[in-house]
Amino acid sequence: MHKYNIVLGIFFLSLLHMTHGSVSRQWRRQTSADFDVLIFTERWPLTACFVWKENSESHSCLLPKRDEWTIHGIWPTKYNTMGPQYCDRSLPFNASALAPIENELKENWIDIQNGSKPYTFWKHEWDKHGTCAVVIEALNSELNYFEKGLKLLDTYNMIVVLAKANILPGETYTIDVMLTAIEEVLGKRGQITCAKHEKTGESYVNEIRICFDKSLQLTNCDGIYNFPTNCDRNKQIIYPSYVPRYLAKQM
Ligand SMILES: *[C@@H]1O[C@H](CO)[C@@H](O)[C@H](O)[C@H]1NC(C)=O
Ligand SMILES: *[C@@H]1O[C@H](CO)[C@@H](O)[C@H](O)[C@H]1NC(C)=O
Repeated sequence: MHKYNIVLGIFFLSLLHMTHGSVSRQWRRQTSADFDVLIFTERWPLTACFVWKENSESHSCLLPKRDEWTIHGIWPTKYNTMGPQYCDRSLPFNASALAPIENELKENWIDIQNGSKPYTFWKHEWDKHGTCAVVIEALNSELNYFEKGLKLLDTYNMIVVLAKANILPGETYTIDVMLTAIEEVLGKRGQITCAKHEKTGESYVNEIRICFDKSLQLTNCDGIYNFPTNCDRNKQIIYPSYVPRYLAKQM
């Protein structure tokens, strides 16, 4: 009888904790902290635009003014899988919070897919990844999350990283040459993804991912899903200097 009361007491106590606002949020956040690394994903806008237009002729792209890589997102990730994602729905995207950095975001965290609202893309990245990243102190708010992305791009823009190894837009390379360049310039292994032209079979450099540990120190990406690449390792990969044309309709 006595034991039973204690168990019941603990049960109601935990119920009380879970329904109490701040405690329940912390509890959810702790669950979502379950990841190994943060992937910082940069996209090559010309390839991202090609992929978007390939989906539909009616799609239009927004492109940066200069030849630069742009941000896709900062993604908390467990090894060998994707996610966690959508960790905390109690943290809705708030466009006004980004007002201080909105101009920079428009230039560097650009919505290549020309979304219906200026912040469609940012809301997506926040809901899906930012709400999982908030357990890291430096990323604990929307403004901090997006500001950190801008800083990382500033430090690691792949146009600069690759140029240090003489890898330039308009040329073709094997993927191993590109992977080695990243490792030699940064001292850590990254990931490269490609987009393939269905009709011509050509492959384009699409995204480059570099990884950070929970203290935001650059680390090897070994172990992340699809590491080190989904590109064809026996082929020359194009690093395009213009948006590749989708030829499906003509061929
Ligand atoms: C983006 O899309 C809007 C319509 O949603 C269109 O008016 C605008 O011209 C597009 N921008 C570019 C650069 O294509
Ligand atoms: C959205 O952000 C603005 C600017 O930081 C803030 O004043 C406002 O209270 C926030 N709104 C919500 C619903 O959190």
